[in-house]
Amino acid sequence: MRVLVVGSGGREHALCWALSASSLLTKLWCAPGNPGTAALAENLPIGASDIAALVAFAREHHVDLVLPGPEAPLVAGLADALAAAGIRCCGPTAAAARLEGSKSFAKEIADAAGIPTARWEHFTDPAEAVEFVRRRGAPIVVKADGLAAGKGVVVAETEAEAEAAIAAFMAERTLGEAGASLVIEECLFGEEVSLFALCDGTEAVFLGAAQDHKRVGEGDTGPNTGGMGAYSPPPAFTPALADAAMARVIRPALAEMAARGTPFRGILFAGLMLTDDGPKLIEFNVRFGDPECQALLLRLRSDLLAALLAACDGELADFDLRWSDRASIAVVLAARGYPATPARGGVIAGLERAAAVAGVQVFHAGTDRRGDRLVANGGRVLTVAATGDDLAAARAAAYAAIGEIDWPDGFCRRDIGWRALQGTSE
Ligand code: AMP
Ligand code: GLY
Repeated sequence: MRVLVVGSGGREHALCWALSASSLLTKLWCAPGNPGTAALAENLPIGASDIAALVAFAREHHVDLVLPGPEAPLVAGLADALAAAGIRCCGPTAAAARLEGSKSFAKEIADAAGIPTARWEHFTDPAEAVEFVRRRGAPIVVKADGLAAGKGVVVAETEAEAEAAIAAFMAERTLGEAGASLVIEECLFGEEVSLFALCDGTEAVFLGAAQDHKRVGEGDTGPNTGGMGAYSPPPAFTPALADAAMARVIRPALAEMAARGTPFRGILFAGLMLTDDGPKLIEFNVRFGDPECQALLLRLRSDLLAALLAACDGELADFDLRWSDRASIAVVLAARGYPATPARGGVIAGLERAAAVAGVQVFHAGTDRRGDRLVANGGRVLTVAATGDDLAAARAAAYAAIGEIDWPDGFCRRDIGWRALQGTSE
C-alpha cells in the first residue's frame, strides 16, 4: 500500500509512526510533513490545502490511500477530488465535513438524529442575537458558525461578555465570514472528553477516548490553544459511558448523514460533556484531535492501515481493534509566547536522550532543520508522548523525557492529567 498523509503537525507525525508499523505499507509520503515525518516518510513540498497538487501527485504516483490530518482540506473537498480520480481517502466528502465546517449544520443533524446536545438557536442578525442573550441570561455560549481554528467559541460568564462576542464575530468580523452567522447555546457543565470513532458510512468502530487540556495555563486557565496535552483513557469516561456515547451520538449521526445521501467516512471526533444527564454533544470534528491522536495511537495494538482501508472500503462491520491496557499521555512543548506570538528560531537539542526514556515517543510539529540544527518554527513545536502501567507512570515518563530536552524558549504545562490523577472535576 502506497500511502500519503496530509498535514505537518504532531498528529501527522504520530500517524506516520503508526502507519510505518503496518506490514501492508510499501511507501509513505507526507505533504508537507515536518522534520519528524522525514525520518519515516518522504516529505513533499505540497501544502495541506493545495487540493489540485495533492490529487495530481496521488494520481501520478499511484497512491492507494490518502489520510488527511487537518479539517481544512476536507471541508474544501479533498476527499471529493480524490474520489473523482479513483483514489481512496480516509476522510469525509465536503458535504459530510460540514459536521465540523458549520456548527449550525452539526446542531441540525444532532436534533434530527435525537442526539443529546445543548439547546441552541441560529442567528444571522446581531440585534436578534443580543435580544436572545438578554432573554436567556448568562452563562451562555456564543459560537461563530464557520471554521475558526479554535477561536470561534466564547463561553460567556456574563451577558456583557456574550454581547461583546456577538459584536466581535458579526459586526467587526474578527473571524471573517466564519462569524457571519452564530450559534448561541445553553452552557453545559461537567467533565469534557473527546471520543473518536472510525466510520465507513454505515458502521462505526470505537477508536478510543482522551481528555484534552485546551487552555495554555496550569489548572486549565488562560487563553485557548490547539491543545496543550491529552491523556487516554480518561477514567471518568467508563466503558459503559463510551458504549452509550457510541449508541446515542456516533451511530445516530452516521445514520442521519447516510439518510441524507452524504454518508460519513473517516474519523468522527465527538467533543462530549459528561453531564449529570449523561454524555452530551458539544461539537463534531471530522478528523483526529491534536494532541489526542498522539496519546491514542500509543495505545493502539492493531494495524492502523488495515483499519483505515476497511473504513474506506465499507468493511468495518465485524472489524475489531485491539488496545493496550496501559495509559498514555501526550504533553505539548510550545514556544514561549504561544498562543499569541510564539518565539521562533530557538535551537532544540536532546531529542535522542528524550526518546530513549522507556515508553516515550517524541513527535515533531513546528520544528525546522537549519543545517544540522533543529530549530523552533511554530507555536506547538513538539509533543512528548508516553505510555505507562497507569497514568501516573506515563506522566512520569513523559516529564522525565522533557527534562532531557534542551530548548530554552520552550515551555509545557506541568499538570497534564491532573483531573484524572486528583480525581477532581470542575
Ligand atoms: P470548540 O472550539 O467548539 O472546540 O469549543 C471550545 C470549547 O468551548 C469546548 O472545548 C468547551 O470547553 C467549550 N464549550 C463549547 N460549547 C459549550 C457548551 N455548550 N457549554 C459549555 N462549554 C462549551
Ligand atoms: N485538540 C483539539 C483538536 O484537535 O481539535
